[in-house]
Amino acid sequence: RPALAWHAMDGLCLDDVPLAGIAARHATPTWVYSAATLRSRMAALQGEFAAQGLTPAIRYAIKANDHLAILSLLRAGGAGADVTSAGEFARAAAAGIDPAAMVYSGVGKRAEEIIQAIEAGIGQINVESAEELAMIAALARARDRTAPVALRINPDVAAGGHDKISTGRATDKFGIAYQDTAALYRHAATLAGLRPVGFSTHIGSQIFEIASYEAAYTRILALIDELNAAGTPVTMFDLGGGFGIPYDDGIGFPLPAYAAMVRRILAGRDLGIVIEPGRWLVAPAGILLARVTLTKATEADDFVILDAGMNDLLRPALYDAVHGIVPVGAVEASGWPRACEVVGPVCESSDRFGRYDLPPLAPGALVAVLDAGAYGAAMSSTYNGRPLAAQVLIDRGQPHVIRMRQSIEQLWRDEIIPPA
Ligand code: LLP
Repeated sequence: RPALAWHAMDGLCLDDVPLAGIAARHATPTWVYSAATLRSRMAALQGEFAAQGLTPAIRYAIKANDHLAILSLLRAGGAGADVTSAGEFARAAAAGIDPAAMVYSGVGKRAEEIIQAIEAGIGQINVESAEELAMIAALARARDRTAPVALRINPDVAAGGHDKISTGRATDKFGIAYQDTAALYRHAATLAGLRPVGFSTHIGSQIFEIASYEAAYTRILALIDELNAAGTPVTMFDLGGGFGIPYDDGIGFPLPAYAAMVRRILAGRDLGIVIEPGRWLVAPAGILLARVTLTKATEADDFVILDAGMNDLLRPALYDAVHGIVPVGAVEASGWPRACEVVGPVCESSDRFGRYDLPPLAPGALVAVLDAGAYGAAMSSTYNGRPLAAQVLIDRGQPHVIRMRQSIEQLWRDEIIPPA
């Protein structure tokens, strides 16, 4: 986490900006992102592929963090977008991403979403079923358009950091069964309104094992070879996303080995490649800044209660994810780390960050919840009447507010009381 450093005078700093100052100015909880880290991760991703002679089209999965400022930054670095709804499509477009540089994913795209994408000139629609393929063909034909489609293959491999984020098993709702895809692709090639461009897959999220990817890709390449040999051209392979990040200080995703594997298994083919990373690009670039509201000692445990909770960062409650937590201010010299339960204020037992060894933290102390740039703010809710937190982007030494904290009144702004 190159962006975080401890300064003797100022405490924990993100890109040399003291986090205590941000908390004093903008209150807590607040998401804080590093523009430098976002840029350097984008460049590093391209660099690792370039080292293998590969130039994949990067379609950032914007569900990980769809803030316009972050989208614009990644676009400037060369990213397109992987979008899954009319809302995401419009956001990516608002951030200046050309629809031609977008991939449309998702098992339940609505007709109006498909029409909007086709009319805007979407680069690629990843199709998840025979039923959806027929629907897209009919919608495109009715408008005298040709939709560029890729078939998302469910390769039936197990991968991913958690049952809830695995997507490539035969029992998951995603993708088209491997054994059906070749015939469906041939069928797509005969349908007016469609231009089949290739195949896609996405086997899950928070993956570290290159072998899972290789198993899935090898199966799909066999299909591609078979189709090409039989005269149905396949020109594009979308490798999906899912690259893991070490939430626990462990080893990161072996990107050089992944890129080398991709080069090795693609060798000898003339195939354009696409990748759809989300988490890897943005998770380490963000923290959630929170303040200790109270500490509470019970017979059973020592609780540290933060002013951030599961409505802000849902990952611990939903996936048992453990994010690093570090104090932002100086800690008492006498304060040896000791085990405590760090929890949020929401009225749910699952509103807990987990068990940590932390120095004694008095009420008012600040902490940073690490690696919160992906699936953090994007998954927030206002549960328990808690407004969406502020967001700050640090760029070239300057903190910029990129989202104001929601006001209390905004919580019910769109509600209507029917006449009595
Ligand atoms: N492509 C598709 C079709 C996806 O569904 C996803 C993520 C991605 C790419 C990007 O995956 P990534 O590179 O970020 O792993 N909320 C969960 C993660 C859910 C991922 C959903 N799909 C979490 O916080 O761990």
